[in-house]
Amino acid sequence: MPTLGPLPKVIGHRGAAAHAPENTLAGIRKAAALGVGMIEFDAKLTADGVPVLMHDDKLDRTTDAKGPVREISLACIRTLDAGSWFGPGFRAEPVPTLAEALELAVSLGLAVNLEIKACPGREVETARAALAVARDAWPADRPPPLVSSFERASLVAARDVAPDWPRGFLFDRLPADWQEQIAALEPATLNTAHRRLTAALVATLKAAGLPLLAYTVNDPKRAKTLFDWGVDGVFSDKPDAILAVAG
Ligand code: G3P
Ligand code: MG
Repeated sequence: MPTLGPLPKVIGHRGAAAHAPENTLAGIRKAAALGVGMIEFDAKLTADGVPVLMHDDKLDRTTDAKGPVREISLACIRTLDAGSWFGPGFRAEPVPTLAEALELAVSLGLAVNLEIKACPGREVETARAALAVARDAWPADRPPPLVSSFERASLVAARDVAPDWPRGFLFDRLPADWQEQIAALEPATLNTAHRRLTAALVATLKAAGLPLLAYTVNDPKRAKTLFDWGVDGVFSDKPDAILAVAG
């Protein structure tokens, strides 16, 4: 069975996305500085198959370039500025490789939720490449990262190459066959959209016997409600605000 490390109640979303550009090393450092114990980030592949941190399929929103991530090489993506869009203090912040991000998280003592965010059609390839990098970068004596994805094909591939690493069953709308899916995929956590959660739905999901994590919660009052309902942890762009009510 995969080993799931301790789950903090607050997980920095894409680093600490309200305070520093998402999915960058600056964001990871900021999350650690805010006292967060765990961070989430998104990994996808460059044209030449290298996992880098990036949420969108296109470069447009979070870099100074345009176009599909799947068509840019590692050498080219490394020349981009992934910080200025967020603020002048982050000028020339690079797009990190997954290896760099994991190494930094390890050095800062942070736990990690690695979300496999494949470009369409690259679900299996992305999971395999990300897990190969992560296996190499992550020390064997620390609880391995939680590997999550909205894409079932990525979770199956993750299980096949790293059966001993915990997986997060990530969904927006609860699939009708969710119980069959979790029986087949054997996830360690359920990760879902907080805005769809009600007390009743939390109770239903918690009956599966797995920790329940909710994204993306930036309002401390909502976080408190979710914790009161039994949600185990929340992803937040403002983890400092949520830590204040996490108890
Ligand atoms: O993994 C939780 C959350 O990050 C999922 O949504 O779109 O922010 O990657 P998204
Ligand atoms: Mg994500």
